[in-house]
Amino acid sequence: MVVGEPAGKRKSNWNDYQTIKYILKQYYMRKKIVAGNWKMNMNLEEGLKFAKSIEQYFSEKPPAGSEVILCTPFIHLQGVSEILKPGKVALGAQNCASESSGAFTGEVSAAMIKSTGAQYVIIGHSERRTYYHEDDRLLNKKTVLAINSGLNVIFCCGEIKEEREAGKHLIVVKRQLEDGLFTLSSEEMKKIVIAYEPVWAIGTGLTATPDQAQEMHHYIRGLVREKYGKECAEQITILYGGSCKPSNAAEIFSKPDVDGGLIGGASLKKEDFIAIVEAL
Ligand code: PGA
Repeated sequence: MVVGEPAGKRKSNWNDYQTIKYILKQYYMRKKIVAGNWKMNMNLEEGLKFAKSIEQYFSEKPPAGSEVILCTPFIHLQGVSEILKPGKVALGAQNCASESSGAFTGEVSAAMIKSTGAQYVIIGHSERRTYYHEDDRLLNKKTVLAINSGLNVIFCCGEIKEEREAGKHLIVVKRQLEDGLFTLSSEEMKKIVIAYEPVWAIGTGLTATPDQAQEMHHYIRGLVREKYGKECAEQITILYGGSCKPSNAAEIFSKPDVDGGLIGGASLKKEDFIAIVEAL
């Protein structure tokens, strides 16, 4: 019997080939994730209270087959880490420094994030690319540092409205991945979650259609396959982000290459965030 095998799924008359195929499929099944990105919202007290209510909910009703992550501002990390320990919800930061330590006033290193108990960090969010001029080279440096510090990275990519209108969205995302991510080794890629976030959909109320999301996710998986092979491509989790909400989550998540979501605005409302997790 396969550990964790859903009761009644395997048929008693299967031959060895069918059984092995089933086991391999289970083994290679991708991790499904819903990550909340709080951005620069909530003071410490509000954040801890909110994290506690999310933790309580998922302790009583564990998310079936998916991982839930809260990506908080730096100041919340330690407190939220204590609340989530040893719970059902993982913790992430939203950024890290591009240097490992030293005289970099105001920065927070990947190792410091790791020391709070966080397991993830978001790198390359479009708000970092746009407002803080973070380019692919810098994001690559941060990604390598984060992985070397023991963190998993949620690496964001996505085109702006003009690029999509000009039909350049695939080329833009390809460049972001090639320059930001594809210097990693196959081993390092196991620590990566990719988040496709069309910039025109972030916080705007505009959402990519499920078909637009699927087209891009399928394309991204193909790029990973070309560079790292089939196994890596099948295993990598690719999230959609951009005005994802309870009313559209289920349809977007139903697409075969969409493995969950990176949620901004709707992650700040308990009911909405939970509804999105449950849609997955
Ligand atoms: P949004 O943000 O859900 O508010 O559009 C998503 C994100 O920026 O990660």
